[in-house]
Amino acid sequence: MKLQRLGSTDLRVSAMGVGMAALGRPGYINIGHGDDLERNYHVADMERRAHNVLDAAWNRGVRYFDAARSYGRAEAFLGSWLRDRGDLADTVVIGSKWGYTYKADWQVAAHAHEVKDHSLPVLRRQWAESLATLGRRPDLYQIHSATLESGVLENTPVLGELARIKGDGVVIGLSVSGPRQREVIERALSLKVDGIGLFDCVQATWNLLERSAEPALALAAGKGVGVIVKEGLANGRLTERNISPEFEPKLASLNRIARRLETSVDALALAAVLARPWAGVVLSGAACVEHLASNLTAVETVLDDAAVSALEELTELPETYWQIRSKLAWN
Ligand SMILES: NC(=O)c1ccc[n+]([C@@H]2O[C@H](COP(=O)([O-])OP(=O)(O)OC[C@H]3O[C@@H](n4cnc5c(N)ncnc54)[C@H](OP(=O)(O)O)[C@@H]3O)[C@@H](O)[C@H]2O)c1
Repeated sequence: MKLQRLGSTDLRVSAMGVGMAALGRPGYINIGHGDDLERNYHVADMERRAHNVLDAAWNRGVRYFDAARSYGRAEAFLGSWLRDRGDLADTVVIGSKWGYTYKADWQVAAHAHEVKDHSLPVLRRQWAESLATLGRRPDLYQIHSATLESGVLENTPVLGELARIKGDGVVIGLSVSGPRQREVIERALSLKVDGIGLFDCVQATWNLLERSAEPALALAAGKGVGVIVKEGLANGRLTERNISPEFEPKLASLNRIARRLETSVDALALAAVLARPWAGVVLSGAACVEHLASNLTAVETVLDDAAVSALEELTELPETYWQIRSKLAWN
């Protein structure tokens, strides 16, 4: 996979990256997560699984890996992989996030899986934890799911601390979720600390069902801010695994187009993300090597005009999309 700069930063990334939300813990909301892990939650086995996916990704040219403090042991698994693989550690770009604390105690079902707190003490604690757990500085550190309501984009002490970390050479970013992604990105793009823009990267959801962040993401890329796209498969809803009766006509359409273009449904959906001119890195959230391999074929999948216009029919209202997502079961 060809390497390119992430926005105007000095980071050189592959067009596709691997996200570790599903690889670091027993429970997640992705469809079929429990099946992927074969319901084997032994830490050593989960670490081996994560390393296998990371190896397969690296061997296929992936050079961006995305973790977070709240993804269970994702940072620890990434850290042990970097240590085990020696020199390879210098070839990859590592992103992580702060602002949610993992609370599920290695259980699939939990009262609260992650607790959100975007305060200065949490930033300081989690930055130290990320450094220790990864065994090196992340190249990119992101506010995890910044919202207007949380006040994090107005929190002067937090913004000052992020500017200090940026001064040490770390790219500062934010991730966003929910129907107001566009507003949060626009607010973040206008934010300055001591006259300098703080954020050099934004991570957002864009997929064939939820396209509402597109204008803000195009604006970000135009300003030289790197764009990372998450949930390109809508947590598995844009795969063969989505057997929901309401989705049946849309899956049939995806299957028809995928067959005609001689690709898979997941590669087709991810190819549509890769085709956005503003997309810097498109994440695969695969938890097994087989799905990862299928996802990565998206880089060879070319959409024609007929496919582009048929795929536009799949779009949902943002409120509907996020409501469905909020009901996905932890498994
Ligand atoms: N707020 C935030 O900052 C935030 C929020 C969400 C995600 N993220 C980041 O984005 C990354 C990706 O998000 P995501 O996990 O939601 O990704 P996604 O790509 O939308 O969904 C991944 C799901 O699709 C399934 N899948 C992929 N290929 C498949 C195939 N060929 N057949 C059947 N199922 C297939 C995967 O199954 P398998 O597990 O079997 O591979 C997994 O369940 C995360 O890991 C994380 O790094 C960030």
